[in-house]
Amino acid sequence: MTIVLEGKAAMENKIIVNTKKELFPAAPDLYGLFFEDINRAGDGGLYPEMIRNRSFEDSLTPAGCTVDPERKIYKNKAGWPGAFNHGEGMDDWAEKVEDTPVPGWYADLAVMEIRTEDTLNPNREAALQVSFSENGKIWNIGYAGVPVKDGDYVFTLFIKSDTDTEFTAALESKQGTCYGKEVFFAAAGKDYQKIDGKIHAEGSDFQAVFSLTAKKACTVMIGFTSLLPEDTYLGHGLRRDLVEFLKGLSPKFMRFPGGCIVEGLTEETAMRFSHTIGPVWERPSHQLMWHYRTTNGLGFHEYLQLCEDLGIEAMYVCNCGISCQARRGRGFSEDLVKEMLMEADHAIEYAIGSEDTEYGKLRAAAGHPEPFSLKYVEIGNENWGEEYLERYELFYRTLKEKYPDIIYISNGHTEREQLPTEVVDEHYYNAPEWFLENDRRFDSYDRNGPKIFLGEYAVNGGNTIASMECALAEAVFLTGVEKNQDIVTLSAYAPLFQNSDYTAWKPNLIVFDNHQVYGIPSYHVISLFGRNQGDTVVECRSETEGRPPVYRGIPGLLCEQPGLCFKNAKIDGKPVSVSRTIYGSWEENGGIYEMRRGGKEHPFTGKSEEWNRAFEAFIRGKKRPGRKDERDLMWVTFDDQDREEYTFEIDLKFDPENAVTLSVWNSRTDTDAGCSEPKDKEWNLMSVRSQIWKMEQGFGVTDIKGFFDFGKPEPEKTALPENDGEFHTYKIKADHDGYQCYIDDKLVQQKKHILHPLIYSAASTEGEKLILKLVHVGDTPADVSIVTDCEIEKEVRAESISAELSAGNDFEHKERVAVKTSEICVEGSEFIYHILPHSVDVLTMKRAVKK
Ligand code: AHR
Repeated sequence: MTIVLEGKAAMENKIIVNTKKELFPAAPDLYGLFFEDINRAGDGGLYPEMIRNRSFEDSLTPAGCTVDPERKIYKNKAGWPGAFNHGEGMDDWAEKVEDTPVPGWYADLAVMEIRTEDTLNPNREAALQVSFSENGKIWNIGYAGVPVKDGDYVFTLFIKSDTDTEFTAALESKQGTCYGKEVFFAAAGKDYQKIDGKIHAEGSDFQAVFSLTAKKACTVMIGFTSLLPEDTYLGHGLRRDLVEFLKGLSPKFMRFPGGCIVEGLTEETAMRFSHTIGPVWERPSHQLMWHYRTTNGLGFHEYLQLCEDLGIEAMYVCNCGISCQARRGRGFSEDLVKEMLMEADHAIEYAIGSEDTEYGKLRAAAGHPEPFSLKYVEIGNENWGEEYLERYELFYRTLKEKYPDIIYISNGHTEREQLPTEVVDEHYYNAPEWFLENDRRFDSYDRNGPKIFLGEYAVNGGNTIASMECALAEAVFLTGVEKNQDIVTLSAYAPLFQNSDYTAWKPNLIVFDNHQVYGIPSYHVISLFGRNQGDTVVECRSETEGRPPVYRGIPGLLCEQPGLCFKNAKIDGKPVSVSRTIYGSWEENGGIYEMRRGGKEHPFTGKSEEWNRAFEAFIRGKKRPGRKDERDLMWVTFDDQDREEYTFEIDLKFDPENAVTLSVWNSRTDTDAGCSEPKDKEWNLMSVRSQIWKMEQGFGVTDIKGFFDFGKPEPEKTALPENDGEFHTYKIKADHDGYQCYIDDKLVQQKKHILHPLIYSAASTEGEKLILKLVHVGDTPADVSIVTDCEIEKEVRAESISAELSAGNDFEHKERVAVKTSEICVEGSEFIYHILPHSVDVLTMKRAVKK
């Protein structure tokens, strides 16, 4: 389609691009991938194993954990609970399958039993014993079905039989229609025999099963099984369509293998490089914290191979001797830390050592004599505190000395502790408003400080999920990232993959089941930005209508010590009462309420009662070391209606030492976003803090600093009139421009909101190409005047994503929200672009060469 646009118009929305003002080179690895095995992204996903529980170890108690007698919940050493369900994983995954003693496996005329002795090799903790009657059969249902299409499937089986007999391995429908089979013979013997076979299948059935039928009655032990499609990406064993989707993002690097799984639930379940190399049947398996076990078929070599196949840089995250701190994990003993350091050292040698080195030799034996490339190594994931600082320093100094060319990434601002720091990994999961307001976040970061890796980010709070609204807010944030590529040099959305039959976290960038795949709107935005990065960032300004930030929510009152008294709460002049007691409690005496500690706890709710109870007991029972415990906060809200413009007033009497906050907190509908742990449903006040007035030690602030707000100046403090310990009326009056804070009708402090542009922009060049990115957050179409300092050739490519805020993609509408490309015709150096509501656009122009 070609739209001809002519002329120049006087209008309010203007984007000014100054190509002659080159700011800095584009960061070569800005857009990347973060792969973590979450939502069964590995086995049964990117690593297309078709047999679930191929090692028969899924139902074993996770190492270092305990499991309740009904085997519904596991707990790590600190007591942090997760869903187990006898190894089926999360509650809703387990609900979808018929009960079986061996997850994934069923039997007819055969009896199955898990055995933990006489296993295939010392790394295998279980084997399956089957007593077949004549023509007895066992079958595996795969990952929500074994997906069969016309083609060849390779199977491996280690079997030991007490009888000479013939077996048939087959792909068949649940009703018994055979799509393909292979007959093999197992001789009676004491040792496991390796059977390699191939099944040629004809038919199409995504709910098929893999079966094994014995011709004669016999008792066998099966040590390990595997069934993989022969057709994989470049023949390197990974699911073709999923790799194609990764390619579609034009990534420059991949961070792997996690995420929290690197840290592990316990020291025994922390990721170790050495468990992920060599023949797959010799790789130990272990429980991941996302409620299932991995057999590590997708291991270190496979990740490096994938990076090589995609032509991108590898970023390896190593465990640095701490298990998941977010789940109350611990620093390991000195000896174990040394062992983990050795693991990291060996991993690096495996990747880049010559064939003569111990680990380079293993790589060569695995089919890759030439070293891989490994550009980045991250020391730990989401680790913090003293425990981290010590370990970071040890890992950094040891590894840097040995492998000086690698770029090392820290989990925090370790430079502030005078430690050598090259890159800092910052993670942001938040509501759309946060991303809309943080496009300028990196402007103030220290240019002489470390580079920033936006290692994990996603809109995962708000009224919608995996929607255009989320993608739009992330796009705004990314324009800010693009404008700060001199310091923010790497970024990756998280998580990357979701097998829709095994969801443990939402949202995720790419959703698949056992035969199809689509990208959520954010996928299309990142793909659009990734393939249009340019190589030089140039000056670009938006002069558009100003838009106030959206602050909507429920008024509340917080304090950090008991004893705060309140009465006469009013909103817009009407008396209101306490609507929710979020933390603590209160006592009423003659119309005066006094805040107290303790009180009724509101429940955490997930699907399973057991898990809720275990989670709640844990959360309530433990004080977080070094962190403010929930019970130190007393918090009530008033009325239950969201407001944007309001006057909230209340009479308060409090000790000047108490920290008291009047605020309006965002309340949300439940979107099912976030991670699998049970949620505190009673107070669904999500992520974004709205208006806030905090009074402490005689001063008031209208801003607070977040975890990664290091670059931000300290919030401005305003001296308040002396607190005489008597009742006074405190009032917040809010409208779209900001809010004012009063004590006894005297204005003591105010906050003016910073207006945000209606259209955010970023620009770059690449040779004669001028690339302009526009993100329009408005609800109505707009005409925007694009003003450049150079002549533009007539034909401009416009790529645009635009949709209703709530719109998303699904298997039926894979590209409901996707890029639409058109050609527009322009004149000269200034033209009008008609921009759709809620849209992300990239205009690719050609600078005219002067004759
Ligand atoms: O992306 C999901 C999880 O979020 C990652 O495992 C962890 O690093 C973060 O907390």
